[in-house]
Amino acid sequence: MTSSHALRGTTLSFRDNPFLAPPSECLNVTEDALILIEDGIIKAAGSWQELSPDLPAGTPVTHYPDALISAGFIDTHVHYPQISVIASYGEQLLEWLTRYVFPAEAAFADPAVATEAAGRFLHELLRAGTTTAAVYCTVHPQSADAFFTEAQKLGLRMIAGKVLMDRNAPEALRDTVRTGYDQSADLIAKWHGKDRLSYAVTPRFAITSTPEQLEAAGDLLDSAPGLFLQTHLAENREEVRAVAELFPKSRSYLDVYDRAGLVRRRSVFGHAIHIDEPDLCRCHETGAALSHCPTSNLFLGSGAFRLSDAVAAARPVHVGLGTDVGAGTSLSLLSTMGEAYKVALIGGHRLHPVQALWLATRGGAAALGLEDRIGSIAVGMEADLCVLDGGTDDFLRWRLERCDTVQDQLFVLMTLGDARCVRATWAGGRRVYERPESPPGP
Ligand code: GUN
Ligand code: ZN
Repeated sequence: MTSSHALRGTTLSFRDNPFLAPPSECLNVTEDALILIEDGIIKAAGSWQELSPDLPAGTPVTHYPDALISAGFIDTHVHYPQISVIASYGEQLLEWLTRYVFPAEAAFADPAVATEAAGRFLHELLRAGTTTAAVYCTVHPQSADAFFTEAQKLGLRMIAGKVLMDRNAPEALRDTVRTGYDQSADLIAKWHGKDRLSYAVTPRFAITSTPEQLEAAGDLLDSAPGLFLQTHLAENREEVRAVAELFPKSRSYLDVYDRAGLVRRRSVFGHAIHIDEPDLCRCHETGAALSHCPTSNLFLGSGAFRLSDAVAAARPVHVGLGTDVGAGTSLSLLSTMGEAYKVALIGGHRLHPVQALWLATRGGAAALGLEDRIGSIAVGMEADLCVLDGGTDDFLRWRLERCDTVQDQLFVLMTLGDARCVRATWAGGRRVYERPESPPGP
């Protein structure tokens, strides 16, 4: 039997890419809109006045007055096992990994730890309005099993993979070329393409994989259609120097991955701060994507991603936003949009709120090659949505009331807002999160 539901409220969608056309002309705001969902897919979207007479009798309608309905947010780079080390003091990347991350990830040998963390993480994502993420697990295959199991229960579109790491890491966190390949292949057979789940081959970064393991990652990518590749690229200067020493024949850090066949469509490179023009050209040519992780780059003192260079109209590169928790300081894409604005401005560029929303939704979907399924409110798309408002914060609501346009409201939300501004999250046509009426007491 078909399951139908309708949402009513102000919807936000895109007419065009705001990095290639004037941003203020790219946002489509429908003030009183209807979204009809059948079996998890958007069947109609447009003006309530025009479409509601055709609404099948008895269709339940959820009305969100005074709210903005957007496509669900897309986080293109995040580590679920690191939620317990978010906000850990005092180190840059390599020391931070050794001191905080590796000990936390070692605990994921225990499936109970992994299951508990995956459930908590997914709840936090939905609370932040994020409906799809590209997620790093740990080296343990059971960490990926736990993640996929929990994501499947919620009916989410998620991308994840077991980390590959065969050197320069504690023994308890190392695999080998053989075990890494076999465990990934088993996980691909078990999870890739099941419901809305996809597998990402996940070599952590060039420092922790031998050239042979990177080659094996390329073989894995060729083993089934639609697989993703996720890894870190040129995040930190010390890291870049170490990679140059480990791979002296490569022209650049990206070239290390390229030689192993890892630079292609559905490859997502986190950070990409210290890369040059030939690297950007190579990403453009291949369709590989970069994940901009501003809260993480600020938190670890890594540097400033040059967004305007990456998306330059002459050879645009796909870019999405990543929270990169636990180096990132928030799972909220609203907060991440706000920090991306500040980083762009330091570099002499203005990130328009419509561009920021694009990165968090439609642009993120395009970065992942999923723009025909998620990232916009349109007929035929999967019904993954988030509903935004001023929340229970009196001052934020007061400030929002002083906005003349939806674009101004968006800018206030991304500058001052976070998960508290998410009234509800829908995934696959089901409401998977609803903000409690008032915050729980002490
Ligand atoms: N580079 C290699 N591993 C990691 C990680 O877990 N987080 C971040 N931010 N960078 C990395
Ligand atoms: Zn990361």
